[in-house]
Amino acid sequence: MTARIIDGVALAEKIKEEVSVRTAKLIQQGIKPGLAVILVGADPASQVYVRNKAAACQKAGLHSIVEQYGEGLSEADLLARIDALNNDPAIHGILVQMPLPKHINAHRVIEAIAARKDVDGFHVSNAGLLMTGAPLFIPCTPYGVMKMLESEQVVIRGAVAVVVGASNTVGKPMALLLQAAGATVTICNSKTRDLGWHTRHADIVVIATGRPSMITGDMIKSGAVVIDVGINRGADGKLCGDADFQSVQQVAGALSPVPGGVGPMTIAMLLVNTIEAAERTLA
Ligand code: GUN
Repeated sequence: MTARIIDGVALAEKIKEEVSVRTAKLIQQGIKPGLAVILVGADPASQVYVRNKAAACQKAGLHSIVEQYGEGLSEADLLARIDALNNDPAIHGILVQMPLPKHINAHRVIEAIAARKDVDGFHVSNAGLLMTGAPLFIPCTPYGVMKMLESEQVVIRGAVAVVVGASNTVGKPMALLLQAAGATVTICNSKTRDLGWHTRHADIVVIATGRPSMITGDMIKSGAVVIDVGINRGADGKLCGDADFQSVQQVAGALSPVPGGVGPMTIAMLLVNTIEAAERTLA
């Protein structure tokens, strides 16, 4: 079997076009949806992500501001900026790019963002709402993965799903979303004994570990759907995911590539969350 390659770029474009239409409607009603992105420090990967997020906003007609601060910004100054943005009616979504420098407590920063503007869905209120089945914002990456599964018409109800990686930002919300859609879900982590035993039983495998080639073809059931959330820089300098693309492709039924899979979807869903935040101000 050779896996169908899931085109995240094309799906993200379609979603962003839908966002453009909703944006134009909101603008007619006197509201320009606005996203503020804060970046602290000079991490090169974060700079690329932030630039891509701002460019996608502008292309879809949203208002976007990027605030870049040096590594030495104090936590108090960052919290003061968040407070100002919480009270700025032109801003509907606030995203503080992670990771933050070590002297800043990321948990305190996330909790300082008004839950109604937390387009990342990382605030404890939003995590709790997701857990109890009434989400306000779904974290962008797992939200994008669900859209990819939907567009591939993957049957989730009754499926066996394995999520490899248990982060608050991807693994845990991913598992909750799959479970809410009717899958039987196992969350594996770096300490899981015989990871391959778990993944070989799965109809759907979502990998978010940050370790290149963590999952190989012999760990995948024939015909399974494999979604690769990893973005790593390989020894050859090229971007690669957490799955060994060549061997998994031989066995899986469908596979998301890196680049061109989940990455563009994360940005598209950020725009969706921002437009939803803006639309809610009308209600
Ligand atoms: N760093 C890497 N991915 C993300 C994300 O989705 N949101 C934020 N805020 N920071 C990130």
